[in-house]
Amino acid sequence: MRIGLIGTGRIGTLHARTLTALPDVSRLVVTDADTTRAADVAATLGVDHVPSPDELFGLGLDAVVVTSATASHAELVRTAAALGLPVFCEKPVATDLPGTAEALRAVEAAGTLLQVGFMRRFDAGYAAAREAVRSGRLGRLHTVRACTSDPAPPPAGYLPHSGGLYRDCLVHDFDVLRWVTGGEVVSVYAAGSDAGPAMFREAGDVGTAAALLTLDDGTLATATATRLNGAGYDVRMELAGERDQVAVGLGPRTPLTSVEPAATGAPKDPWPGFVDRFLPAYEAELGAFLRAVRGEIPNPCDGREALTAFRIAEACALSRRGGRPVALGEVPAR
Ligand SMILES: NC(=O)c1ccc[n+]([C@@H]2O[C@H](COP(=O)([O-])OP(=O)(O)OC[C@H]3O[C@@H](n4cnc5c(N)ncnc54)[C@H](O)[C@@H]3O)[C@@H](O)[C@H]2O)c1
Repeated sequence: MRIGLIGTGRIGTLHARTLTALPDVSRLVVTDADTTRAADVAATLGVDHVPSPDELFGLGLDAVVVTSATASHAELVRTAAALGLPVFCEKPVATDLPGTAEALRAVEAAGTLLQVGFMRRFDAGYAAAREAVRSGRLGRLHTVRACTSDPAPPPAGYLPHSGGLYRDCLVHDFDVLRWVTGGEVVSVYAAGSDAGPAMFREAGDVGTAAALLTLDDGTLATATATRLNGAGYDVRMELAGERDQVAVGLGPRTPLTSVEPAATGAPKDPWPGFVDRFLPAYEAELGAFLRAVRGEIPNPCDGREALTAFRIAEACALSRRGGRPVALGEVPAR
């Protein structure tokens, strides 16, 4: 299969490396607005590069992987759809709801495939939690606690184009909350803090956020995120039911120190970032994309799933701005 990849930054370089290792990929062509960066990545991986997305789309490839900055996703997804090309797009599909809905309409009108990069669906821990909930082992679920804590902020230039902490970061927790529990979020109440480095205030973003989410079966969930977790990269989910409770992401590398007398001290090798923590999941999601393109499996995370997660993020942004609970029904579905 001949694949084009647009955007050779942090995640694009990782996905390009993964693609070169997949036996199904016969050719990989990369491009980036920063042509030097694309050329460097191409040289390192021994793949081809072209100067622009337009040239890449003109090559008659079999599928496209979009890993450029969020603000460019929607247009690239629409272009791929117009050409009849299956596309894997990193989350989120756009920085706003109209952009997301328009991209989805283009994909649906063209009848093409769009898989969105919610890689936690491919993580062994989240999959085990899903099984624990859905098998009934936990009993009736009543509480979920999710967290995503980045050890350090991205470059300041990333923030204004990211969509903000709810849409850029917590959107992962919102997607996987639905995927693990099978429940739908009906309302949210969110707060955020821009205390800390000035870059967050300057970008109109927050560096730390919390949301309380109510699911349609009455389960209560909290989701917190921060860009300022000095202890390391901490992504966890705790799910508590009437019979048992389980935790995703709790292990020897969790960057969390128990201060109990019997505890063994700080973790020796805490997760430094998303690449180490989720590498197998990133590899599995791209393998799944190729299988979905070949029609061997259903799309594991289509645009409608991504839209729902994005609407939850949008509701949180609305809630924070207004200082009030927001029903998901207040956020347009199309
Ligand atoms: N799923 C995940 O865990 C995960 C992790 C990191 C990033 N992401 C997502 O991946 C995307 C990229 O994030 P990143 O951290 O790699 O950012 P980055 O800033 O490191 O890289 C983005 C690259 O896109 C290029 N670019 C921007 N606009 C372009 C355009 N129109 N055409 C071609 N190239 C263009 C930039 O030059 C840059 O090299 C974001 O949407 C982000 O939300 C997802």
